[in-house]
Amino acid sequence: MERLMDITLTVNGTVVTRRVAARTHLVDFLREDLGLTGSHAGCEHGVCGACTLRVDGEVVRGCLMLAVQANGRKVDTIEGLSDSGELAKLQKAFHEKNALQCGFCTPGMLMAAQDLVLSSKKPNREEIRAHISGNYCRCTGYHAIVDAIEEVIHGQG
Ligand code: FES
Ligand code: FES
Repeated sequence: MERLMDITLTVNGTVVTRRVAARTHLVDFLREDLGLTGSHAGCEHGVCGACTLRVDGEVVRGCLMLAVQANGRKVDTIEGLSDSGELAKLQKAFHEKNALQCGFCTPGMLMAAQDLVLSSKKPNREEIRAHISGNYCRCTGYHAIVDAIEEVIHGQG
C-alpha cells in the first residue's frame, strides 16, 4: 500500500498543507498537486535542469528531491519569481536577445541564471557558460542565453 504523508511548506510565499505519497518528487507535487506547471519535468534524472527550483534560497533539482523533503521549507518556483518581478531584467534580456525558442528549458534556465545574478560574482562568458552547464537547451546553442545573462550582470551585451 502506498505510504502517504502530510507536509506543510511555503510555496511562493503561501503556506500549503497537503497529503502526498512518500515517493512523489517535488517537481511533480508542484505541477500536479499545486498546478504550478512552470517548472518542467524533462529527464527526471537530474541531468537537464528543466525542473530547477529554489529551496530555502538554494537552487535544486525538483526531480531529485522528494516532496516530503520540502516539508517545513520555503520553495520558490518560476511563477513566484516571475510574479514578484524578481526575474524582470532577465526575462526582458532573454526576450530581447532571442534567448529562447521552444521555451522548454527557459524556466529552469532563468532560475539558474538568477542564482548567478544574486551572487556577488562578476563572471565572464566562460564562467556564465559553466554556471548554466547543468541546464540543457536543445534549441538556442546557448550563445544568446549567455548574451542575455551577461547583459543583466554587466549591463552590456
Ligand atoms: S527533469 Fe530534473 S534535471 Fe531533468
Ligand atoms: S529554447 Fe528549446 S530547449 Fe531551450
